[in-house]
Amino acid sequence: MPSAASAAPDTAAPSSLYGGRTSGRVTVRDIADAKRRGERWPMLTSYDFLTAGIFDRAGIPVLLVGDSASMVVHGHTSTLPVTVDELISMTAAVVRGTERAMVVADLPFGSYQTGIQDALTNSMRFLKESGAHAVKLEGGRRVAPQAEAMVTAGIPVMGHIGLTPQSVNALGGYRIQGRGGAGEELLADAKALEAAGAFSVVLECVPADLAKRITQSVSIPTIGIGAGSGCDAQVLVWQDMAGLNEHTAKFVKKYADLATTLGTAAREFAHEVAVGTFPTAQQSYS
Ligand code: KIV
Repeated sequence: MPSAASAAPDTAAPSSLYGGRTSGRVTVRDIADAKRRGERWPMLTSYDFLTAGIFDRAGIPVLLVGDSASMVVHGHTSTLPVTVDELISMTAAVVRGTERAMVVADLPFGSYQTGIQDALTNSMRFLKESGAHAVKLEGGRRVAPQAEAMVTAGIPVMGHIGLTPQSVNALGGYRIQGRGGAGEELLADAKALEAAGAFSVVLECVPADLAKRITQSVSIPTIGIGAGSGCDAQVLVWQDMAGLNEHTAKFVKKYADLATTLGTAAREFAHEVAVGTFPTAQQSYS
């Protein structure tokens, strides 16, 4: 079993927030400084101890325990079913697996839309029970009161606008948002989150020009996913990024082919068990 995390990242990740930080966790101040410096940074999702440690040592400064776990971990067809308890358990594992990354927990569907009190209660549970350093919620102006109350209570808040998967039924599917006049609405949402005190905002599936305009219009970093290159940061679901998930959206780039690697390993293992070449004396106790 590998150790939870090492003292320094494996690689000197270019333009990582680690660039200015030699020890301790990445904080909201580091994120704000990165925007001032014009530094771009990566965010990945993570849902477990081992991948969290790998991404932490690779220099990923922010890990998101996304409600995408509902789909890529639990196999549901949307992000709606995953619960606060399930995400708290995964977030705690990610926190245990990291030493340097800021760990952001997604507030799942139903845990904050119902009002300020639920938003506070559930986000406090994430900070107390999992050790999360921040939480994320979906929506702009409609959740600004919750975001403001959370920030006032000392909870760092990451916003998420554009394609907000928890609203997939209301949006009529997973489709690009903010085209035409709707762009002004998204800009107003981003500004409302900024005014509420959010420290960053995810822009999902919005036209690249609009994402760039929003990025230039707000003082907090924008984190793009399917939003072009004009954002301050980029996020991908790790199973998409590493090719474990074979069916991905147009905006995904696969940096590895883990589905093939794992399939090959499983077939080789099965074959060696069948023909009796595993285990050998090397894998046996005398
Ligand atoms: O849940 C998630 O993985 C997300 C990212 C796609 C931003 O919200």
